[in-house]
Amino acid sequence: MNTSEHFYITTPIYYVNDVPHIGHAYTTIACDIMARYNRLLGRKVFFLTGTDEHGQKVEKAALERGRSPKEHADLLVGNFQDLWKQLDISNDAFIRTTDAQHVAVVQRLLQQLFDAGEIEKRSYCGMYCTPCERFWTEKDLVEGSCPDCARPVDRIEEENYFFLMSKYQEPLVRHIEQTNPDYILPESRKNEVLGFLKSQPLGDLCISRPKARLAWGIPLPFDDRYTTYVWFDALVNYYAADTYLSPTGRPEWWPATHHLIGKDILTTHAVYWSTMLMGLGLELPRNIFAHGWWTVEGKKMSKSVGNVVDPAATAKKYGVDAFRYFLFREVTFGLDGDFSEDALTRRINTDLANDLGNLLSRFTAMAEKYFDGVIGLPGAYAASPDELVVRSYRNGFVVARNHAHWARLRFNDILGGIWEIIAAGNNYIAQTEPWKLAKTDPAHLKNVLFNLWNGLRIASMLLYPFMPATAEKIWRQIGLQELLPETASAGDSIWTAGSWMPEYTVRTRKGDQLFPRIEKPAGEMKIKQKREAKESEAMPEAPAPGLIRMDDFAKVVLKVGKIVQAERVEKSNKLIKLQVDTGEERQIVAGIGKAYAPEDLVGKKIVVVANLEPAKLMGVESNGMLLAATDEEGRLSVLILDRDEITQGARVK
Ligand code: MSP
Repeated sequence: MNTSEHFYITTPIYYVNDVPHIGHAYTTIACDIMARYNRLLGRKVFFLTGTDEHGQKVEKAALERGRSPKEHADLLVGNFQDLWKQLDISNDAFIRTTDAQHVAVVQRLLQQLFDAGEIEKRSYCGMYCTPCERFWTEKDLVEGSCPDCARPVDRIEEENYFFLMSKYQEPLVRHIEQTNPDYILPESRKNEVLGFLKSQPLGDLCISRPKARLAWGIPLPFDDRYTTYVWFDALVNYYAADTYLSPTGRPEWWPATHHLIGKDILTTHAVYWSTMLMGLGLELPRNIFAHGWWTVEGKKMSKSVGNVVDPAATAKKYGVDAFRYFLFREVTFGLDGDFSEDALTRRINTDLANDLGNLLSRFTAMAEKYFDGVIGLPGAYAASPDELVVRSYRNGFVVARNHAHWARLRFNDILGGIWEIIAAGNNYIAQTEPWKLAKTDPAHLKNVLFNLWNGLRIASMLLYPFMPATAEKIWRQIGLQELLPETASAGDSIWTAGSWMPEYTVRTRKGDQLFPRIEKPAGEMKIKQKREAKESEAMPEAPAPGLIRMDDFAKVVLKVGKIVQAERVEKSNKLIKLQVDTGEERQIVAGIGKAYAPEDLVGKKIVVVANLEPAKLMGVESNGMLLAATDEEGRLSVLILDRDEITQGARVK
């Protein structure tokens, strides 16, 4: 059963023999964000993660250490469970493929397929990659090696059991292309799967391994000389969990709302798992979302290079919430990204210490100084900056709560909305200069502090899925008692920007700085001593006429966009219509047609104003604007990036 009130989300189950790295943390935190947000909406949530414990890799790793595979798995599973606790992961269940109940479900489903004639025994000859545990055909190989890991393959000839996957090729194409356009996201990954399915006949799937070659697996129920192919066993976890790990004690979650995975395991999910479910007559998941990969300082992450990012150590050094925030702010979810301690430090210093941390400390300092920390509902006051701040809150709120953003996991856009609220609060302090109002207009001052309080309230609730501990700290400092119960009980009215107050008197409690600035990145990082914000820092003067503050500049969201298509707008010699990938695809109409031919623009990476109100030019909708320079002679030049490795969607600042 799956009503709109049920939300079931899964991570891949991780190979238990590997130590957890940033890639494992990435998917799991993404699921946690979605789970927490949906709980906040009052939905029933089932969030599943776990470990993949059968197969050659685990068997080999265990043998090398003189342990049985199960002993080995029992020892190593703790690495994941401990990491999830450290990273504040709120999973409802943890599945292990060695659980007796999981094994029973795999065997039951295999038997069902076998009885229905969906599994057949055949003699088979193929190229086998042991590390990937996959067969390939000759033509799949790249220079004679495995196309996935580039390691040598072995020619193996043996009798095996096959799931008759090929017959589901057409139904699967229809499912992805016609009936469920959001089945695979992002769009580029969906196209990749469709390309694969449409370019060649789909083969059948070998789902067994002779026991002699692989003993560490689930025996086939109809032929115990064979063990089950590890991917068949692993994929079933998503369904099996609902039969024995459901917190309510009864199956009620299948089909999953989202399977979150990395791009390398898209085929196994989009093709193998989907067709297995078709063969079993079970519903398919609602969505499979494949995210990109992290490189580290521009290089592929690998044990041999020694640059594997350890999430536990990174979170310990920089803070769990800073790490969680960075992963989803730095890169559009779905695209590849690059990790570095410098980039993480920059995010902490600008977004977290400057924008968010300062807003809170300036607010609590002023609340205590002027009103002994007591915040009350404002009187009627509508000077223009006050109206503006409420409008900006509302704009940010609408973006951060946009259903389409959440359904398509656009975390970066959602965080952009939250930062609009935070920037509005900081600007508001600059514009109203409360330290002057304290002398001239106490009634207005009360109003300003209420509005600041309200902005922090809304921002902290929206931040909760991303940074749960930080949200609760803010919540406590601004005098609210508990985040979740209050939010849930007040329903949607709690989000309204103008007037909500709890039923008790709010008294602020200034606490530690949320995110102390980090002075030196990497290696010799030092966290500044905690100190009270000085009055001069807390209440800066307004900028000189003609100048703007960083806060003002930060309102303009500039992003790198790649031009995917360009054509002239009919009946115009000036306008060109561009399709630009800025992490999401958008159409921009630009007046550059006299200086550029459309075909010269395709493939170029440009700078786009990404948060401009949509406009129509000669009836054609434009979402954003590109940056170009014009000189006095009227010559025009579009700003084009001189390094192609910058990914589309990257922020320009
Ligand atoms: N056991 C299988 C999944 C079975 S799901 C039914 C598996 N396990 S894994 O431990 O190798 O998981 C790896 C996960 O981490 C994948 O989702 C993969 O995409 C992700 N990543 C591995 N390296 C990564 C990066 N460098 N960056 C981001 N994610 C990466 O595959």
